[in-house]
Amino acid sequence: MPTLAQSTSVEEQTLLAQLDRARMPTHIAIIMDGNGRWARERGLSVHHGHQAGRAAVKRVIKASLQLGIPYLTVYAFSTENWRRPASEVNFLMKLLEQAIEDELAELKRNGVRVRVIGRLDKKLPEALVRKVQRVIEETKHNRKLTFTVALNYGGRAEIIDAVRRLAYEAAAGRLDPHAINEENFHQFLYTNGTPDPDLVIRTGGEMRLSNFLLWQLAYAEFISTPVYWPDFDRRELIRAILEYQRRERRFGGRNGDYQSNP
Ligand code: IPE
Ligand code: IPE
Ligand code: MG
Repeated sequence: MPTLAQSTSVEEQTLLAQLDRARMPTHIAIIMDGNGRWARERGLSVHHGHQAGRAAVKRVIKASLQLGIPYLTVYAFSTENWRRPASEVNFLMKLLEQAIEDELAELKRNGVRVRVIGRLDKKLPEALVRKVQRVIEETKHNRKLTFTVALNYGGRAEIIDAVRRLAYEAAAGRLDPHAINEENFHQFLYTNGTPDPDLVIRTGGEMRLSNFLLWQLAYAEFISTPVYWPDFDRRELIRAILEYQRRERRFGGRNGDYQSNP
């Protein structure tokens, strides 16, 4: 992989120089939206939009590796996306399968650990689930970047699945309901072992979470950009990190120099 300095434009160099390396986000989560509008504006089918979206994922993985971001999570398919036309859903499933097939070797070479969060149940094609299990297994020892794909994922479904497991444990007498707290609840979520995102980026301009990581995003900085996902690139990622670094994270406390009312 070329180093950052070898492969950046002057504009990007300027953006890079502004980054505060001591305050980089540990975990960036992305709601990849706008594939359909990107395609429509070009007179193309939505399939072309998703295809171009796939290339953007590859760019952002590469950029995260170059910037030294240890955790990247992308929302690929929600529990609500089954409402789309069957032809689009089938295309997306095939695209995911093909992407794993094509990218596995490079992911391994680059030290990327792939995780998948969501309901890997019968709704998903068997061939895709097999590929998903293979990429998880074959990259599980990598540590440079943990790349999590939310697939057939819903924040509410995740919380319900966690609650159900807790209820079973309690009913079996292995868990005292009084012992449940925010820290150990986290262990029952799909994202167990991954720190909560610091920054969530939504492309395509909408201002909603669409059921993404409801528990984990409690204190993430939210950035919405009008850029459609297929146009998102390293430059846009750096811009989002710069915006994140301009924010003041308070976590409910009172930083800054203003006084509370007497
Ligand atoms: C996001 O792009 C991709 C997925 C949900 C899989 P969309 O397909 O939702 O794009 P828009 O919102 O229609 O432009
Ligand atoms: C959110 O995008 C889901 C993914 C990016 C996978 P949608 O396009 O499905 O969200 P809504 O329907 O606009 O809320
Ligand atoms: Mg959309």
